[in-house]
Amino acid sequence: MLGIIVLLHSLLRWVLCILLLATIIKSINGVVTKRAFANSDNKISLFLMISAHTQLVVGILLYFISPMVMFGNMKDSQIRFFTVEHSTLMIIAIVFITLARIRSKKAATDAAKFRMLMIFSLIALVIILLAVPWPFSPIARPWF
Ligand code: HEM
Repeated sequence: MLGIIVLLHSLLRWVLCILLLATIIKSINGVVTKRAFANSDNKISLFLMISAHTQLVVGILLYFISPMVMFGNMKDSQIRFFTVEHSTLMIIAIVFITLARIRSKKAATDAAKFRMLMIFSLIALVIILLAVPWPFSPIARPWF
């Protein structure tokens, strides 16, 4: 069971990263070309937020059942990574993804909508790239 949930969490990372990249590219394009904010821009930011919140739920579930989450064993860098660093940074990133959508929806002009989406999504992407246990990072986990 744990294995299936970890695999789901690992695969969802790709859905999230692809939607995040697509949102950033679309919003940069919107800022540069000064085009109108289209229905597809709204849809992609909605799908991005749904996938981020799904990942949050799966992550919180893992937090309760994973052997990688343990208090009182902070000298072990793997345990500390998943118990503190990964979880905290990812929650912050998901807050930024949520803010991207809320601030973009509330913005008065199309240019401001694109700008909000672009800035908050970029911040979220940087945090996620830093906090994912990539195969080449010190806490190495598989690509899938
Ligand atoms: C943007 C959101 C997130 C992404 C992209 C992400 C990505 C990942 C990846 C790639 C792994 C390694 C999976 C593997 O071993 O194959 C992982 C593991 C883990 N994540 Fe996340 N994560 C996110 C959010 C969260 C959150 C919010 C929490 C907890 C509150 C969390 C808790 C964990 C735990 C406990 C593990 C270790 C599972 C284990 O190996 O037993 N994650 N995450």
